[in-house]
Amino acid sequence: MSAARRGRASPAAAAEEPPPVRIRRARLADAAALARVQRASVRGLARGAYTDRQIALWTRLGPLYYAWTLGAGGEIAFVAERGGRVLGFAALLARRRAEVTAVFVRPAAAGRGVGSALLARVETEARRRGIRRLLVKASLNGAPFYRARGYARARAIRVPLPDGAALDALLLTKAIPAARTGAGTGSGGSRPARRAAGSDR
Ligand SMILES: CC(C)(COP(=O)(O)OP(=O)(O)OC[C@H]1O[C@@H](n2cnc3c(N)ncnc32)[C@H](O)[C@@H]1OP(=O)(O)O)[C@@H](O)C(=O)NCCC(=O)NCCS
Repeated sequence: MSAARRGRASPAAAAEEPPPVRIRRARLADAAALARVQRASVRGLARGAYTDRQIALWTRLGPLYYAWTLGAGGEIAFVAERGGRVLGFAALLARRRAEVTAVFVRPAAAGRGVGSALLARVETEARRRGIRRLLVKASLNGAPFYRARGYARARAIRVPLPDGAALDALLLTKAIPAARTGAGTGSGGSRPARRAAGSDR
């Protein structure tokens, strides 16, 4: 729970306040929710950047795919949830060329800092693991979000989809300074999530 939310509101205001957004590590049991969120997010927020066919192929990843990513795939994922409902998720692949493999937010929850809080949580996890650079294969619609948070463009790429299709995307990278080496841990234009999300690590 956000510390700022505890103990300040009057009882009446507290009764009206929606439950806080909480960020926690994803579990295997979240696989179906991740698939649902990814589908809703892409359908609702990536239209305009891609064709209907690309959207359909991109959202074909189902719960089995996410169960794999959380298990054998070795991805470390975090979900943002409110009152038990998953609003978004983000994932990190902590290999040699470490990658942010996903940030997806439900359309109804977009623009309120949930994506920023998830990305910040992934970056904290990366820093903890000694990762000094993150890359992301950003969708064309998602790229401005990453750029505003310090990710710089490396080059244009194509991300393969089933049936020989592909998504035009941008490879972006960001240096992750080591903890306690100065003021740089939030560098690159990250913006606070306006207390949209608490975090239980
Ligand atoms: C890209 C995406 C993850 C961003 O998630 P989000 O929760 O909307 O992101 P945020 O709310 O943190 O930030 C987005 C904008 O909302 C506003 N915002 C940020 N924090 C806010 C807050 N606390 N309250 C209100 N608005 C806020 C800002 O205008 C911000 O724009 P900026 O990038 O110019 O700073 C989301 O749009 C999405 O899921 N897109 C579709 C899937 C996709 O393509 N993902 C990327 C895959 S590579």
